[in-house]
Amino acid sequence: MNITPEIESCWTAACEVRQHAYAPYSNYQVGAALITDQSPQIFRGCNVENASYGATICAERNAILSAVAALGTITIRDLVLVTREPASPCGMCLQVLSEFCDSETRIFLASPEKIFHRHALTDFLPIQFSSDKLELPHD
Ligand code: THU
Repeated sequence: MNITPEIESCWTAACEVRQHAYAPYSNYQVGAALITDQSPQIFRGCNVENASYGATICAERNAILSAVAALGTITIRDLVLVTREPASPCGMCLQVLSEFCDSETRIFLASPEKIFHRHALTDFLPIQFSSDKLELPHD
């Protein structure tokens, strides 16, 4: 597995932001950090839970939404997910990831100690629901 300095920086950022996780209900802290094709900037997010559990925002979606808010549409190049033991993104995050990933996107599963695995989105979500299923209006 080739860990570039950019991926290492994402891992550090994901470990840092994980410490801001607001997880009083699950006590399961998650950090995510990503870089895009559009900018060298690293975007990060942690999970933010809510007393109304369904209102919880996952770390990955938090990072993706802040990247889109800053840059507009993005293509994610690398995303590093930090949990206590390596864990897959949840189904809802995979769906949101699928909107902004391509076949080159790398997803790294990590703990605060090390980066474990590198994946493509299709490893987690082999068949995707995407905009080609929608009847979009023509210009
Ligand atoms: N969580 C994430 O942040 N990302 C995932 O992909 C899976 C789950 C969070 C949501 C909740 O705050 C906690 O982990 C336990 O489900």
